Amino acid sequence: MSARPSSVRAVKHRLRGQPASDGAGVKLTRVIGTRQFDGLDPFLMLDEFGSDQPGDYLAGFPEHPHRGFETVTYMLDGRMRHRDNAGNEGLLEPGSVQWMTAGRGILHSEMPEQVEGLMRGFQLWVNLPASEKMTAPRYQEFPASAIPRVQLAPGAHAKVIAGQVGGIEGPVRAESTQAIYLDLLLVPGAAAVVPLPDGHNAFAYVYEGAAQIAATPITRGELAVLESAGEFRASAGAEGARLILVAGRPLNEPVAKYGPFVMNTQAEIIQAIHDFQAGRF
Ligand code: CO
Repeated sequence: MSARPSSVRAVKHRLRGQPASDGAGVKLTRVIGTRQFDGLDPFLMLDEFGSDQPGDYLAGFPEHPHRGFETVTYMLDGRMRHRDNAGNEGLLEPGSVQWMTAGRGILHSEMPEQVEGLMRGFQLWVNLPASEKMTAPRYQEFPASAIPRVQLAPGAHAKVIAGQVGGIEGPVRAESTQAIYLDLLLVPGAAAVVPLPDGHNAFAYVYEGAAQIAATPITRGELAVLESAGEFRASAGAEGARLILVAGRPLNEPVAKYGPFVMNTQAEIIQAIHDFQAGRF
């Protein structure tokens, strides 16, 4: 008997995303931010996009606004060009991440820079605390080469986008939510343990293969919502597994949402709509 048994985060809920369409008609899977699963403070939305059919992605995401939160785009395959109304422009390439703090407001477009082939990745929305919702917009953008990879165990690797694991720190700074964002690769039969801060809400999404997370089998396309204390533990089945593991400190603040505006009160939402319509973004 150990005096302090190591605690493993159990899977609280297991669910599948819903087919959805966003932007000018991009087909995607909405995993968080659905009627079935509204959010996991501070995470408001998770979309997985993945298709080798250009008709599913060519329309892209023409100019649209955001206020009050952060959008995190992690590309696995394909190229997407980003432009905003402050003159910023960048090309998101395979393995790159863009962590955009929309703050008080941004108008941007995200358009595919390819007419064929596979387009695959994730967009995550991370809420901001009231004190930072009207901050100046900013970007943290990193190519694949700037995202460190760490071996967690034999056959188990993590790309560290945000947070720290195995003494390796990811390039993104997400101060207000202390967010952790890892892309895990497990070869068949490999297992990994990732310590997470107690109190952080956390989820894992399996996007290739299958894994056992704590005591629960999770297959491709399933989200595992984890308990809020203990370490993360996963082992891969016979096909191996690829999954993202995301954790963050909950804000515990009221959430008022209207499309791309996420504030604390309904009055702030009405203000956001006025500011947008008056061209103040
Ligand atoms: Co956007």
